[in-house]
Amino acid sequence: MKPSIPSKKLPGTINADNSRYYQQCKASSIITFAKSAGLESGADLDQLEPYLKHSKTILEVGGSYGRVIEHAHRINPTLKISAIEQVAHLADRLKQKYPFAKIIQGNILTHTSHEQYDLVTLLWSIIGEFSDFEKVLLIKKLAQLVTVQGRVVIDILDLNSYHPYGKTSNSYDYEIETEHGSVIYMLPTKERLFEIAQRCGLTCDEVITYDLNGITRQMLLFRKLYSKLPSSDSKASF
Ligand SMILES: C[S@@+](CC[C@H](N)C(=O)[O-])C[C@H]1O[C@@H](n2cnc3c(N)ncnc32)[C@H](O)[C@@H]1O
Repeated sequence: MKPSIPSKKLPGTINADNSRYYQQCKASSIITFAKSAGLESGADLDQLEPYLKHSKTILEVGGSYGRVIEHAHRINPTLKISAIEQVAHLADRLKQKYPFAKIIQGNILTHTSHEQYDLVTLLWSIIGEFSDFEKVLLIKKLAQLVTVQGRVVIDILDLNSYHPYGKTSNSYDYEIETEHGSVIYMLPTKERLFEIAQRCGLTCDEVITYDLNGITRQMLLFRKLYSKLPSSDSKASF
């Protein structure tokens, strides 16, 4: 699968169209992509180890084949893990494979719940599967779902070190043709995400930069804007 610049004007919403790909895609194909990106080993979750060890609850957005559930459980076996996954066959598979986790079959954009979690994770740059408009809805939702002392974690590519279209653009938009139709990605820079997060009541208090398979990735950790931390050490509550 080779990325290309989208030929047409990008639509205002992309997530529902992109989900058609996952509806037809087998879990084994997603595992192959995770391996090629260097993510199957859980190297991204290892970066989050202090947060995973000191949290009681986590909500993983886009549970997929269970990569995050598996590695979060490995790092902290007492963590209460929930995952939301909109594609039925993937959600069913998760329910069977991980009986200790709570699997919600649904769309994060329309999910309604009063439950809150110490960690809310959106990893493997899946933020790029949402349009700009959808990113605002999504991050507002994530802000509602995190506890006052908790963190929303968003993983992106470091577009300052890797940006095929030049460093000034605030998004890397591309289209991939697959055997199940095309998928559009709109990967934001971290600066763009900071702006959106601020509008949604979140502020970034840590950026973890790491390399995987020669590509620099970043995990942005956001907390609620109004949360009062006990000291200047942002990890003090963890
Ligand atoms: C790249 S995969 C796996 C990501 C997984 N979080 C990980 O890091 O291993 C993205 C998954 O997110 C799911 N997804 C995409 N948009 C979603 C939405 N709006 N609500 C719930 N799940 C969604 C897809 O169905 C797919 O299974």
